[in-house]
Amino acid sequence: RRVLKVALLGGGTVGSQVARILLDDAEALAARAGARLELVGIAVRNVDAPRDVELPHGLYTTDAEALVGSADLVIELMGGLEPARTHILAALRRGASVVTGNKALLAQDGATLFDEADAHGAELNFEAAVAGAIPIIRPIRESLSGDRITRVLGIVNGTTNFILDAMDTTGAQFADVLAEAQRLGYAEADPTADVEGLDAAAKAAILASLAFHTRVSLDDVRCEGITNVSAADIAAAQDAGLAIKLLAIAELVPLEPADGAEAAHDGAAGAPREGVSVRVHPTLLPRTHPLAAVRGAYNAVFIEAENAGSLMFYGAGAGGAPTASAIMGDVVTTARRLLAGSPGRTGTATRTLPLVGPEAVTTSY
Ligand code: HSE
Repeated sequence: RRVLKVALLGGGTVGSQVARILLDDAEALAARAGARLELVGIAVRNVDAPRDVELPHGLYTTDAEALVGSADLVIELMGGLEPARTHILAALRRGASVVTGNKALLAQDGATLFDEADAHGAELNFEAAVAGAIPIIRPIRESLSGDRITRVLGIVNGTTNFILDAMDTTGAQFADVLAEAQRLGYAEADPTADVEGLDAAAKAAILASLAFHTRVSLDDVRCEGITNVSAADIAAAQDAGLAIKLLAIAELVPLEPADGAEAAHDGAAGAPREGVSVRVHPTLLPRTHPLAAVRGAYNAVFIEAENAGSLMFYGAGAGGAPTASAIMGDVVTTARRLLAGSPGRTGTATRTLPLVGPEAVTTSY
């Protein structure tokens, strides 16, 4: 049986669960992947730091560069822009494939990584980057690739959904529930990224890029967090039969034809007839909307597509084992494609759609 050498970068909450699964479920994974997935090392900053999961000490190394140089498949779970970016590019340039959960890097510089993967016939998969355990990247990239997605609405940050839900249930103020949300362990190292909406904005950029086959980066996302939502706002919404949710919204918006252009002239002068609006903000939803029923730290992504209609994907958006599930799905899928000798093209952007500002958006969300 063939062997694929797997390098793991990062030994934190998710990384340690990925290592555990690779070691404990080795037989089943080998049968499904068609190759033994050999964990050759785990790159960490400090090999002696305390860990959530007991793993053979000899697996740990501080030399990420050497580890990347020895692997067929690199799992990047360091987070942050550098040195994750350098290691991913080094792996792809060697023709090694990469599985990552790095939402910040993909939202900031995904285009560079996708181009590099395609140039070297490598796979780059990132199911865990948006909404943790929920399968959402592959459904958008693959299952819905023959449809036309028109809108994506997501509760993609568990920390803020937990806070808004607790405020809705107990009438508490924002500051009172933030500390509890942090204790739950879903919050980013700096919870500002959660409560100011930046974590959700990174995920919105990734979802919009895939759903609309264009390139949207973090800087393109208009973003407002939940720090100004008061107990009084929540109570007023309840009285009106509404719930306040922090939504990541990405939608196609018809563009007004330029002066003198004929509206119905398809592709006149090649000008796009629609643009993309991508934003994150507290949103009033009817309490009967499926997204209003998403409680606690759960995530959900609601997709509207021309032919499929409405779809909703729901589940755990963070946490070690749930996020490791998404990583492992990518690892097995990547291994299968490598063994078949047909790495998939990332094919994310096939067109460039203009971004439209809030003034052009007429929908109620
Ligand atoms: N801080 C994120 C959340 C973790 O609260 O959902 C998952 O990306």
